[in-house]
Amino acid sequence: MTNTEILKKLFLAFAKDDKEEFYRLAEEYIEREKKKKHNIVAKELKEALYASKFSNKSIIGRSYKNSIPIPRDTEKGFPLVEIKEYDIDWDSLILPEKTLQLLKQIVKEFRDADILATYNLKPKNKILFCGEPGTGKTYSAQTISSVLHIPLIYVRFDSIISSYLGETAANLRKVFDFIESGTWVVLFDEVDIIGKNRDDHYEHGEIKRVVNNFLQMLDTFEGNSIIIAATNHQHILDPAIWRRFDEIVYFDLPSENERLKLLELYLKSIKKNKIDLAQYAKKTEGFSPSDIRMTCIEAIKYTILNDSDQLTTSELDYALSRFIERINIRNRGGNA
Ligand SMILES: Nc1ncnc2c1ncn2[C@@H]1O[C@H](COP(=O)(O)OP(=O)(O)O)[C@@H](O)[C@H]1O
Ligand SMILES: [Mg+2]
Repeated sequence: MTNTEILKKLFLAFAKDDKEEFYRLAEEYIEREKKKKHNIVAKELKEALYASKFSNKSIIGRSYKNSIPIPRDTEKGFPLVEIKEYDIDWDSLILPEKTLQLLKQIVKEFRDADILATYNLKPKNKILFCGEPGTGKTYSAQTISSVLHIPLIYVRFDSIISSYLGETAANLRKVFDFIESGTWVVLFDEVDIIGKNRDDHYEHGEIKRVVNNFLQMLDTFEGNSIIIAATNHQHILDPAIWRRFDEIVYFDLPSENERLKLLELYLKSIKKNKIDLAQYAKKTEGFSPSDIRMTCIEAIKYTILNDSDQLTTSELDYALSRFIERINIRNRGGNA
């Protein structure tokens, strides 16, 4: 499509009041500007596109910086949440089509909450991400925040736990009060502390209490945000937890086809000399997306530092063998 064709379709979508098509085309146009490295134009267009969305909700977008102060731990004074903004698009998230559709549906329901509301329906907004480490749980939350243009509130679950009795519940309350003051994508990351309780210095009862507290607050949560909880250890979560979520998304290790896409993605920035990536998709069985990314970065580094601008099988093989060694050491460590 030429730019003129996109603009023409954009106008038509506006005329037909087809919001979804309008946003899709506008986003596509912005993407093209980005690809041409017209970054300032892209940024301005993006801000213009979402200007109305930002202005009629008080605390999202830039204005959050003036909103209520970030909650802090009373005793130690450290912040309980971090607010972050990302710029990731769907294309850089490699997942099975089924999983991507689930994520896109969450975004769609949130975007069209006003349409759902006319039917007395609410968007899904309590989501559990579970599965293997390095498969994109945190990354997917960042992507959802990016495509919605809503800042991500990042809450590391263990930072809420205070060594002072009673303080934990107060911390959690503060976090929820903060969330309820605005519109965000909220990520409670690594909520699997429950499984670590045995060798922790935290009292077992305290952990149970905080989890129950969390679930209660989740139950009564009425805010205008998407709450995502992520865990690598879904099997240790209490069955009571599962009921509280509107959607559960499982992140599996990538298939051969997905591994190929990941290799292409993470080696995109370098010229390749006679490399059959399909072979490497086979060789990386059992690798997570994060493992593949790290291997690719290593291979690119070897290439560049060898004063070459072309990746060959020798750098890729070397990076791969180093990574496999690493996995072996990790497994030998025995603290699975
Ligand atoms: N499905 C994926 N597609 C593309 N990149 C991924 C994917 N999963 C992970 N990555 C890369 O690996 C990094 C670490 O993954 P992360 O989302 O932290 O894993 P998890 O939270 O599941 O342990 C991400 O920042 C991203 O660069
Ligand atoms: Mg993570």
